[in-house]
Amino acid sequence: MEKMIVEGGRPLEGEVVISGAKNAALPLIAATLLAPGVHVLRNVPDLRDTRTILSLLDELGATWRRDGGTLFIDSSSIAYTEVSYDLVKTMRASVLVLGPLLGRLGRAKVSLPGGCAIGERPINFHINGFERFGVTCHLEHGYVEALIDGRLQGTTVYFDIPSVTGTENILMAAVLAEGTTILRNAAREPEIGNLIDMLVGMGAEIDGKGSSQLTIRGVDQLQPAEIEIIPDRIEAGTYLIAGAAAGGEVTVRDCRPEHLPALLDKLAESGARVTVGERSVTLCLEPRDRNRLKGVDIKTMPYPGYPTDLQAQFMALMTLSNGMCVIRETIFENRFMHVAELRRMGADIRTEGNNAVVTGRGPNGLSGAPVMATDLRASSSLVIAGLAAANRTEIARIYHLERGYENLVAKLSGLGASVWKEKA
Ligand code: EPU
Repeated sequence: MEKMIVEGGRPLEGEVVISGAKNAALPLIAATLLAPGVHVLRNVPDLRDTRTILSLLDELGATWRRDGGTLFIDSSSIAYTEVSYDLVKTMRASVLVLGPLLGRLGRAKVSLPGGCAIGERPINFHINGFERFGVTCHLEHGYVEALIDGRLQGTTVYFDIPSVTGTENILMAAVLAEGTTILRNAAREPEIGNLIDMLVGMGAEIDGKGSSQLTIRGVDQLQPAEIEIIPDRIEAGTYLIAGAAAGGEVTVRDCRPEHLPALLDKLAESGARVTVGERSVTLCLEPRDRNRLKGVDIKTMPYPGYPTDLQAQFMALMTLSNGMCVIRETIFENRFMHVAELRRMGADIRTEGNNAVVTGRGPNGLSGAPVMATDLRASSSLVIAGLAAANRTEIARIYHLERGYENLVAKLSGLGASVWKEKA
């Protein structure tokens, strides 16, 4: 196992190129199961999670090859429709193969994911949605077995809460159903737009992209896709927040600023200078101005609200402010695991239920400490705190970071950070 060492207290300066989005790559790779032939996916990040979903395709009988950022996936022969617990327990997003397998073959058996570090995360919306298409779903020995005789039947599905992977699964099931499906209260994240573009390119008929109501007219068959994965808005946001925390000038390149509306506003409100280009954002906070950083409240919401995947990172920034703020987590019930670790670095944070009150200790308020990563985004908040803290921070269990940040050490080093990995 490896740990990450961060020698803090250096400003960040320079440019960082943003990779393809993990949370777009996963559903798009799953969607290749919908049509036989060779699919071409560009700008696919090389991450632990993308490798996991590719091993899952291996298990099902698809073949693939990678050439740089381009993946060629041939899903002509799907030999199995079962996904083991070993894969699902490493990555919950493995459930994304349920929709396409049901759409194409009418059957799938996938281990039911358990709870995870950030909350219970049930998949009842996915299962209830599949049942609306006429699918029978059984839970036995920890596996969900879903089966239909013949084609899925178009239907209406309503989500109590807009679920991201739930929306993706229903979309992928509906495109090959007989008749029309209407999904109400769908999630609107940009990654879903990327999936809709891919499905439409394959011959699917979908209206309502970007809105909370999607209409899908089922077709008899689909062709292989050629599509580019959108840039990772969470990775871009993480580097911008890091720039504000450490001070300096950071430009994130090859990103889509329009996918970060809430964060860019909050960063500007905190006192950083944010300059938006067509495909880039520059954040500037002179090291001498860090003592003017303001406390800014955030409340996590489905897109276009403030993303839960950038909550932990913003909290790390707020511990360095000169005011107080309230951070409300409304998406997951247990997404404050980073709080105890940030406290070990000197942060003043009180939590009550899903609210955290952060009293900023000013730009020099954190000191390096050995800390433990608990999930992907909590880990990146510890990196940000480490970059701003005096002396050395050692982050254990960095395999969490490798799930979602491509070349993190190289990218941070390129910005002038003093950061490296060591054997734990
Ligand atoms: N929910 C249910 N039942 C369901 C599905 C969801 O109650 O059947 C609840 C969840 O428990 C949660 C809320 O609905 O309270 C929203 O969860 P959602 O389904 O949208 O989350 P997800 O699809 O499992 C994706 C991302 C997460 C991101 C969330 C929220 C992927 C692969 N994962 O998860 O990303 O936090 O949406 O935006 O797209 C990450 O990248 O670090 C990460 C955790």
